[in-house]
Amino acid sequence: MTTTTKSAAPASSYKPDADGRLLEVDDLHVEFHTPDGIARAINGVSFDLHEGETLAILGESGSGKSVTAQAIMGILDMPPAVIPSGSIRYCGQDLLTMPEEQRRKVRGPEISMIFQDALSSLNPTFPVGWQIGEMFRQHRGMNKSDAYAQAVRLMERVAIPAAKERVKSYPHQFSGGMRQRIMIAMAIALDPAVLIADEPTTALDVTVQAQIMALLAELQEERKMGLILITHDLGVVADVADRAAVMYAGRIVARAGIEDLYAQPAHPYTRGLLESIPRLDQKGQTLAAIGGLPPNLTRIPQGCAFNPRCRMAQDICRTELPALRQVGQQQSACHFAEEVLNG
Ligand SMILES: Nc1ncnc2c1ncn2[C@@H]1O[C@H](COP(=O)(O)OP(=O)(O)O)[C@@H](O)[C@H]1O
Ligand SMILES: [Mg+2]
Repeated sequence: MTTTTKSAAPASSYKPDADGRLLEVDDLHVEFHTPDGIARAINGVSFDLHEGETLAILGESGSGKSVTAQAIMGILDMPPAVIPSGSIRYCGQDLLTMPEEQRRKVRGPEISMIFQDALSSLNPTFPVGWQIGEMFRQHRGMNKSDAYAQAVRLMERVAIPAAKERVKSYPHQFSGGMRQRIMIAMAIALDPAVLIADEPTTALDVTVQAQIMALLAELQEERKMGLILITHDLGVVADVADRAAVMYAGRIVARAGIEDLYAQPAHPYTRGLLESIPRLDQKGQTLAAIGGLPPNLTRIPQGCAFNPRCRMAQDICRTELPALRQVGQQQSACHFAEEVLNG
């Protein structure tokens, strides 16, 4: 016997493995072939994501966070991007070798993303409800009025006041925080198993940032999503993430449970980021506590890529690439991780 409960979301044919693992990125490399040379944006990134888990990906601008997300979503422009090696498995299936037609059915219904420039990616010429409804018309073949009804339901879910009255309003009639809620509504519309939020609060003021983070955490909990929170701002994710991976020059240089990472970082770069928290929202500024700038990715320094900016750098740091290794409860790619960890 089948039940006749009406649901917007058909059952997914993708199932996580026995450990609840949804996503498995393994030794991913991405490079951009540009007139100035080959920019090595991602240089062997590996991580996984389980259902019901929030992973923060942290690092300064240019460290490769968005490129990692775009590779997972399958929206990199190739060329100029090239993926010379690595795999990205979703529920065991490699997205990088999947036929485009199948991939399209993953993007949106299974893995969804809130883009870094979310506030400007709403179309100014269509009502917001129409744009949310697009997800249902396109992926579920719904008619206009059913899609609008779904849009109202989602707008209510992301706590937009007077959703029914405002479903046909245009983007400019909403505040920045409300527009971000609309983007979140679109991203969760098809009930994805994985949600990637790329700098979801960057353009918002501090109070609204906290509200958006709380909303994402609530939705993640409710839907048992795997959530990847990408940010340069270590100040906004401490309360919502379970684990964090810190990126520098296209590598993960530190990995830890969120509390350990903040309490006792095991990499000098993480320590610098933490000491810089109040200044990190000033885009393009040199980090107070670190100094210097991230490397040009066409000429990444020998040894540890962070060595020119590191107060602890020794000869070995300029010659030998440090592997990501276990140090206490954390992982760190620093030759002197023990010393960093112990203060
Ligand atoms: N379309 C592109 N063409 C050339 N280089 C790119 C392109 N997109 C990204 N990159 C390179 O990849 C690096 C990482 O970018 P990105 O992932 O956006 O950093 P972030 O950590 O700030 O999100 C950039 O510094 C840039 O050098
Ligand atoms: Mg980015």
